[in-house]
Amino acid sequence: MKNIAVLLGDGVGGEIISSAIKVLDRVSEKYNLKFQYNYAPIGGRAYDETGMPLPDKTIQTCLKSDAVLLGAVGDWKYDSLAPELRPERALLGIRKKLNLFANLRPVKVFDELLFSSPLKEEIARNTDIMIVRELTGDVYFGEPKGISTKTTLDGREIKYGFNNMIYDEDEIRRIAHVAFKSAQKRKKRVCCVDKANVLDVSRLFREITKEVSLEYPEVELSFMYVDNCAMQLVQNPRQFDVILTGNIFGDILSDEASTICGSLGMLPSASLSDGKTPFMYEPIHGSAPDLAGKNVVNPIATILSVAMMLDYSFNEKLASDTIFRAVKDVLKENYRTRDIAQKNSKICTTTKITDLIIEKIV
Ligand code: IPM
Ligand code: MG
Repeated sequence: MKNIAVLLGDGVGGEIISSAIKVLDRVSEKYNLKFQYNYAPIGGRAYDETGMPLPDKTIQTCLKSDAVLLGAVGDWKYDSLAPELRPERALLGIRKKLNLFANLRPVKVFDELLFSSPLKEEIARNTDIMIVRELTGDVYFGEPKGISTKTTLDGREIKYGFNNMIYDEDEIRRIAHVAFKSAQKRKKRVCCVDKANVLDVSRLFREITKEVSLEYPEVELSFMYVDNCAMQLVQNPRQFDVILTGNIFGDILSDEASTICGSLGMLPSASLSDGKTPFMYEPIHGSAPDLAGKNVVNPIATILSVAMMLDYSFNEKLASDTIFRAVKDVLKENYRTRDIAQKNSKICTTTKITDLIIEKIV
């Protein structure tokens, strides 16, 4: 029996997780796997219940589990809270507490969705990128940070805000290893994306990545500036195999890359640690509070996150592939949630598309 900590979060979090768990239950039945789900609050919901967005009990539940499944956090109604009480802080907190420094975001376009991509079909076709995003450093966590005041030369008191983009070589080394190992199992190419023409921290990122690359002679390493990468992603996404990048660049580029796949609602993610703490799985999209409770959102990113969990945390590749195939089969029959619908699609609710995916798992 394996334990999974389940953190629904806010907005559509509950709906997408409920879909993903139904699919997981079905494959578990098929492959005779046993999972125990331990629910714990996080984000705005946790704040409402306990006064804290990331209660200690939730951290303990995660640490005691074999894997963590997360929906999404955030709601506009918490926008006026102090920064340390905001739902997003809980997400950063749990990533840090579980030491989830490596965020894998696969950008693989389903042939069936080529026409849902804003890119021309011939550009989007066969896109298969693994974005390896560092997740516990960078401006997200760098100190010092804050909002302060200063006096200008003409004597005015003005506010200024600051964050620190900082990486040490240990942090760079361990994420670089994840990228090279991932490339070894793929097309053996790593593109390190940074802003080394301007930022010192990026220059160090390059230097250490080059050093690590010597341990992987069969993997080809290239470098690209992040602004250029943003353009190349929509101009020729097929050139990329593994993209290795820092926290903030990875955040931005992964949202951009998701559109190649037709929708933000299609991209799963896995966040890995050094193995001493459980890995966490979540869709890359947010909590979409405006869509909550309407049974319209696309649950596929979360369903595919469960597939990644079966592969990375439980070594159940067959069960994982079964989920991918079931999703593909349903898309092939032109069933779609609204976000990926085309003219002739059969539009489905969240629960309907979930049931169809489950039906394919026989
Ligand atoms: C993501 C999200 C988060 C991030 C937010 C919600 C804090 O955008 O997982 O990509 O910036 O990491
Ligand atoms: Mg993001």
